[in-house]
Formats: sequence, structure tokens, C-alpha cells
Amino acid sequence: MRGLPNAEAYPKDIMLRDGDKVSIRPLEPGDKIRLLEFFERVPEEERYYLKENVASAKVIQGWTNNMDLSKVIPIVAVCRDAIVADATLHLNRTPARHHLGEVRVVVDPAYREVGLGSRLIRELLDIASALGLTKVGFELVAQREKEAVCAAERVGFKEIATLEDRVKDFWGNYQDLILLEIPVSDRERWWKG
Ligand SMILES: CC(C)(COP(=O)(O)OP(=O)(O)OC[C@H]1O[C@@H](n2cnc3c(N)ncnc32)[C@H](O)[C@@H]1OP(=O)(O)O)[C@@H](O)C(=O)NCCC(=O)NCCS
Repeated sequence: MRGLPNAEAYPKDIMLRDGDKVSIRPLEPGDKIRLLEFFERVPEEERYYLKENVASAKVIQGWTNNMDLSKVIPIVAVCRDAIVADATLHLNRTPARHHLGEVRVVVDPAYREVGLGSRLIRELLDIASALGLTKVGFELVAQREKEAVCAAERVGFKEIATLEDRVKDFWGNYQDLILLEIPVSDRERWWKG
């Protein structure tokens, strides 16, 4: 059964570009309230595009109570006892897709544009590499998650497909979904930036 391969490496204390210090570590069962409070600080329109209803206490409790690291590996960034970013690596359990993963990441609006999102994406790619995955994907709404598209491309993800009108936006208009991907063998490149 797969899990977090390098658990002993955490927590990792890092300094952001604005000088703030955050600690990166795996999500813990005791994080339920911190995680709920974090997602409450994320604007409703952004939450709308996420794949799960993160405003729901039940959903978050499900995450923190039933962690299954063979399915999803969640890491968080913590600053002054508050979660300020959440990032997840989603694994595929069927043997035919065992080599594939998918990342998702959300950063507190007050902690954006200082390198935290890309740092967490790179952290998840390191985990993917240690697990022996070969490709990691990122699914984003073209016109609505532009910052995430930029962040993913900055790390080295490349667009591999656009699925037209796949998502209905906050206002009811159809939007394209972009599939991005990175070969895990590109490790040298994603840390150089
Ligand atoms: C996408 C997101 C995670 C980026 O987090 P972040 O911590 O601000 O990202 P970084 O500071 O590491 O930025 C990485 C790159 O993204 C790009 N970028 C980030 N924010 C940007 C913005 N507002 N405008 C333009 N480019 C931007 C830049 O190219 C940046 O590279 P640089 O640091 O060399 O300038 C954050 O904006 C977010 O949480 N958005 C809402 C949730 C979301 O859409 N998640 C994706 C779906 S799961």
C-alpha cells in the first residue's frame, strides 16, 4: 500500500519571498477546524471550481478523520497556528494507472504571489517522484483559474488538452477545462524554475 514516502522530512520550515516563515507538513487529524477556517478565507467564487465542497464541515471532517494516504496525500502550510495553504496529490489505485497522479492546490489570498503555491506543487512532485509516478496532471478551468495555470506552467507543466465547455462557471457560462501535465523525470527542471 502506498503512503507518504518521506514522512520523516516534515515539518519543513521555509521562508516566503516577503520574509514570512511557514511550516510545511502533512495534514493531521487535529487540523479539522484549522482547515475549515482556511477554506472560509478563500473567496466563494474560487471555492466553486474546486472538485469538492470545501465549505462543508462534513466534507472537511471526512478528510481529516478518514485519511487514506494510498488515495490522497494532503500537505498544508502553517503560519502562526493557521493553515495558509492546502495541497493534495491524488493517486490512482488501479494497476493500469498506478503511474499517474494529479495535484490540487489552494493558497490563502493573504499569502499569494510570494512563492508558496509553486513551492507546494514542487513538494508534491517530489513525493510523486519518490512514489515512482511517471506523470502528474493538473486540471484547471481556463478563464477562471488563470493564476493556477501560470503557477503550473512556471513549475514546468505543459498543456496537453483542452476540453471545450466542460465546466459551468459561477455565472452559468460554460468554460473550457485545461489539462496540464509534467513528466516526473523532469525533477531537475522543476526545482530550477
Ligand atoms: C493558484 C494559486 C495556488 C497560486 O498560489 P501562489 O502562492 O500565489 O503562487 P506563487 O506565488 O507560487 O506563484 C507562482 C507563479 O504563478 C504565477 N502567478 C501567481 N499568481 C499570479 C497572478 N495573480 N497573476 C499572474 N501570475 C500569477 C506567476 O507566474 C508566479 O511565478 P513567479 O512567482 O515566478 O512570479 C493561488 O492563486 C490560489 O490558491 N488560487 C485559487 C485556487 C485555485 O485556483 N487552485 C487551482 C485549482 S486546484
